[in-house]
Amino acid sequence: MSPDDLKKLAAARALELVRPGMRLGLGTGSTAKHFVDLLGERVAKGLDVICVSTSEVTEAQARGLGIPMSTLEETPELDLTIDGADEVDSSLRLIKGGGAALLREKIVASASARMVVIADDSKLVPQLGRFPLPIEVVPFGLEVTRRAVLAAIAAAGASGDLVLRRKPDGSVLLTDGGHYILDAHLCAIAEPEALSAALASIPGVVEHGLFLGLATAAILAAGAGLTILGDLE
Ligand code: A5P
Repeated sequence: MSPDDLKKLAAARALELVRPGMRLGLGTGSTAKHFVDLLGERVAKGLDVICVSTSEVTEAQARGLGIPMSTLEETPELDLTIDGADEVDSSLRLIKGGGAALLREKIVASASARMVVIADDSKLVPQLGRFPLPIEVVPFGLEVTRRAVLAAIAAAGASGDLVLRRKPDGSVLLTDGGHYILDAHLCAIAEPEALSAALASIPGVVEHGLFLGLATAAILAAGAGLTILGDLE
């Protein structure tokens, strides 16, 4: 099976968790895209759900499929969010934001009673940090924020380069919220909770890609079948 087939397999298992009348959070990325496609097929056959998206890209995809969309203003409490991840550890701690949607993804996940991660099993890691940690920052005072982020990383016992994320054409990437992303190449994050707290205390940091205590389950697909972490129901 190709990595894309595995992503679709995980998405299909997540679709079985959806019940009529549910309020759903829709994630962002190539795996979440499969889930939204499959959900669109069910909606076309009459499934009644209301959804909130985690990015403009997912919003456009869902609307194109005729999925009823809402906002967190109208629907501030969600039953279930299905989203991908860049890394997941055995305690359901995540790194997210490879697709630059971490801020909305974290807000939607925190508004949701359950968050189920879907991924191919290459995302399961013994320790977080091999994937560069995305840190969303406001453009104002970038150099001040960059230095504070480096100090926070050192205080949490990690080290590595901070790289301002750019688009393929070389221009600085702007998130849906109009912010920049600094990718922290740390290789290993020994104390995710300490790093999360340190980053959250920096004024110019809007959000970071450590999702701790948010995911309630993960569906990880491999050639041999599905591995489930946590509680699906
Ligand atoms: C989007 O900002 C990310 O958090 C994605 O959920 C994450 O990068 C996983 O994406 P893929 O499913 O494309 O690997």
